[in-house]
Amino acid sequence: MARVFSGIQPTGDKHIGNLLGAIRHWAVMQDEHECIYSIVDLHSITVPVDPAALRASTLSLATLLVAAGVDPDRSILFAQSHVPEHTELAWYLNCTATYGELKRMTQFKDKSGGQESVSVGLFDYPVLQAADVLLYRAGLVPVGEDQRQHLELMRDIAIRFNGRYGDTFVVPEAQIPPVGARIVDLQEPTRKMSTTGGTEQGTLLLLDDPKRLRKKVMSAVTDSDGEVRSDPEAKPGVSGLLSLLSAVEGTPVADLEARFAGSGYGDFKGAVADAVVELLEPIQARHAEIAADPGEVERILAAGAERARAIAVPVIEDVRAAIGFAPRG
Ligand code: TRP
Repeated sequence: MARVFSGIQPTGDKHIGNLLGAIRHWAVMQDEHECIYSIVDLHSITVPVDPAALRASTLSLATLLVAAGVDPDRSILFAQSHVPEHTELAWYLNCTATYGELKRMTQFKDKSGGQESVSVGLFDYPVLQAADVLLYRAGLVPVGEDQRQHLELMRDIAIRFNGRYGDTFVVPEAQIPPVGARIVDLQEPTRKMSTTGGTEQGTLLLLDDPKRLRKKVMSAVTDSDGEVRSDPEAKPGVSGLLSLLSAVEGTPVADLEARFAGSGYGDFKGAVADAVVELLEPIQARHAEIAADPGEVERILAAGAERARAIAVPVIEDVRAAIGFAPRG
């Protein structure tokens, strides 16, 4: 049974694409694996972020993850900055990773392009990510397709370190969902749903109230052909709604096309809105419950950090001994 590690950045409001693409799988994986999930606040400061917003979003994301089914008793849920061994290991790995490797990371090229000031942290982001996983000797890392290159680098770093200093790290495998339904912006359906690159009206936030969710779905862009049929090229709007409903319900798109053959777009959108609200309402209710208990989420994170450190500290000691640092006594 491989140990699982994954991370999610606290900044940016989370939307239904984050739930369907990642958070929901995190909850499912708990049934079969020992799971460690981190809110990667150290990664968030690689770009400028407002201190009050960082604090609030870290606590709010922890609340949301628990509300969405991440069970802090079965899994370890913690904030990355609460476990200082992440930054410590990142330094050791900085001396294993190469400048050339990091320079080739496409996410760095995308994020740094056109910026007048780019932090060294943004350049080093993938090494910290490698430290996150290697620190727990996790074997399986559920991530989106966009993280494939970072996972390859992480494996290369682990293999190189093991070769140089002796077997220290587990070489982790990425677990990338097979062409997960593409959740697109409801107003600009050729773009992925995103709180940074998308439209406000086309993004279904996990904490939008049901009325707002319904309004966003009902005003989604469609086309004038009137048929509920998937054709991402010619009918990006309707196709986007079909993939959304397919992901929410777990029903193949072909079955949905059959179900809505002959229906108008109004009825179809109504069904999508119902399904979205049905999925999110219980999560929102749990979120409100947890948020109403003062100190609850802080206690969850503190307990998670303690359990994380119980694994991380002995690994760091192995790493230090392998590299040749004098014992700390
Ligand atoms: N970079 C990841 C993302 O943007 C987040 C992340 C940080 C992560 N550390 C990780 C994911 C470790 C998996 C494992 O999605």
